[in-house]
Amino acid sequence: MQYTISQTFTNTTRTTMTTLITGGTGHVGSHLAKLLHAASYPVLITSRKGVAPEPFKAVTFNWEDASTFENPFKADANIDKLFLISPDHKDPVPVAKPFIDLAVSKGVKRIVLVSASQLEKGDDFYGKLHEYIAGLGVEYAVLRPTWFIENFATTFIESINKENSFRTVSKSGKVPFIGVEDIAKAAFDALIAEKSPNTDYYVLGPETVSYDQAAEILSQVIGRKITHKQLTNEEEVEFFKSLGMTQEYSETLNGLDAIIADGAEEKRVGTPKHLYTGTRTLRQFFEANKKLWTK
Ligand SMILES: NC(=O)c1ccc[n+]([C@@H]2O[C@H](COP(=O)([O-])OP(=O)(O)OC[C@H]3O[C@@H](n4cnc5c(N)ncnc54)[C@H](OP(=O)(O)O)[C@@H]3O)[C@@H](O)[C@H]2O)c1
Repeated sequence: MQYTISQTFTNTTRTTMTTLITGGTGHVGSHLAKLLHAASYPVLITSRKGVAPEPFKAVTFNWEDASTFENPFKADANIDKLFLISPDHKDPVPVAKPFIDLAVSKGVKRIVLVSASQLEKGDDFYGKLHEYIAGLGVEYAVLRPTWFIENFATTFIESINKENSFRTVSKSGKVPFIGVEDIAKAAFDALIAEKSPNTDYYVLGPETVSYDQAAEILSQVIGRKITHKQLTNEEEVEFFKSLGMTQEYSETLNGLDAIIADGAEEKRVGTPKHLYTGTRTLRQFFEANKKLWTK
């Protein structure tokens, strides 16, 4: 199903102050850095190795090492906006709070956090950080994207290329898959909007597609039959753990994946919290990245 919803935060403001991008080497963060740079907004990227691709400047930063938290503010005294990727802890607040408090004390006035469509304020993992930021009294936005289109090139790529299949617990439930470039654009808009969103909202793609349909579209694009198979919840938890995730995080992800079968993701489309719609479709992503799934 295809749908359109107008974008919300479009009146922008000009600044020479810097936006600090945590996770700036990641999928969303790297696209956000490019968008801000192209629009002449100064950017500083954090990375555990302290390196970022040209033309960006990076500082060493690691959630697991609080001695790195001062680094961004030593490198740049003009940071007033923070794009935040949460540490993957069941309760990330004890880890992230000292850094966020420091950032606010150093002049950060707006924080944009990436959470997930499925996580309400106060829920374990990103929901806890959402709650903390919303209660701080600074300007903020919590982006709640649904499942990423790019998961077909990360989470599922090995089994697609080795076994011509991928597995979920989602049955025939539909998902408004979202591309990371669209999430980056939502973050860009939230960062530069004249009026801060000061709320959380869903960031969804332009169409709802089941995993069976996604397999069919990928098959058409790469010219090879790819199938979607079902997993039990226990099998999916083991699968996520095999990708390096902790038991707790794997169980949480499995729970969020399982509710797709009951239509949980599809039902978000058109609700009051659905304030941002991306443009990238699965087919466009598959066409543009065909080589990834060629044997
Ligand atoms: N995939 C989905 O379907 C989905 C759906 C909803 C929400 N999300 C969430 O959306 C967010 C953005 O996803 P993404 O794909 O852009 O992430 P990503 O590509 O996996 O990037 C993660 C970033 O975090 C940094 N990082 C990792 N460990 C770190 C640590 N200990 N300290 C500091 N930085 C660390 C990495 O930078 P360095 O390696 O350079 O340090 C990297 O830039 C994530 O929180 C993800 O869980 C994902």
